[in-house]
Amino acid sequence: MPEAQALAERLGLSFGPALDEPALALRLGPRLELLQLGPAAPGPVYVDFVEGVMGHRRRFGGGRGQLVAKAVGVKKDKIPTVIDATAGLGRDAFVLAKLGCQMQMIERSSVVAELLADGMRRAEQDDEVHEIIARMSLVVADASHYLVGLTEVERPDVVYVDPMHPQRTKAAMVKKEMQLFRALVGADEDDAALLQAALTAARKRVVVKRPRKSEVIPGPKPSLVYEGKSTRFDVYLIPA
Ligand SMILES: C[S@@+](CC[C@H](N)C(=O)[O-])C[C@H]1O[C@@H](n2cnc3c(N)ncnc32)[C@H](O)[C@@H]1O
Repeated sequence: MPEAQALAERLGLSFGPALDEPALALRLGPRLELLQLGPAAPGPVYVDFVEGVMGHRRRFGGGRGQLVAKAVGVKKDKIPTVIDATAGLGRDAFVLAKLGCQMQMIERSSVVAELLADGMRRAEQDDEVHEIIARMSLVVADASHYLVGLTEVERPDVVYVDPMHPQRTKAAMVKKEMQLFRALVGADEDDAALLQAALTAARKRVVVKRPRKSEVIPGPKPSLVYEGKSTRFDVYLIPA
């Protein structure tokens, strides 16, 4: 309980076992969960890199053949350093860290960052997964500011950007629980500014993940496009 109270204070949230039905709440037990209170609420949102979807993807995910790996430019003999400017629940970052990329994750929502940090702490205890987590680190910041403040030596090969799209379709959200996540962070309407910052920071390329049929982020045209079933990656190559 003292831990939960300290967390609520850190995040500026109300604390208590029986609040008057707030729309969203955090619950701290063996893991940290975001949940909606009340009847017919969807299941909780939490980060699990060991079991579930991410555990399955880790075991059977398809390695460098995955579209995200191609878009980022992961090769056998050349593994890029990556800043994930929109870390979210860390799923894409985890897939890339599994392939060997050093991942600096940036997340501006302190609640989302807590969920992610909690998932990383638990995964660090796992014999198989801890070495992947060792390649991931997290900063709570607005990436547009963070990226323009990098020194020359801090610039990564790749900046990866996956903003919340205003019309993110049900197919892209997949699970009902993810609607909770969306209710928490809202749409990322400032994606054009983030793309500009990413283009100044990346040495080699910026990779933007979009729902397959959505428009590109306003700005320069992508140099390459990789299309999957429901997702698209727009790649902006940085001239040498
Ligand atoms: C669609 S989610 C990313 C999901 C992530 N790729 C994953 O695999 O879990 C977008 C996230 O980016 C964060 N975000 C959006 N714009 C940001 C910015 N300028 N700086 C930092 N975080 C940002 C949002 O708070 C949200 O958590």
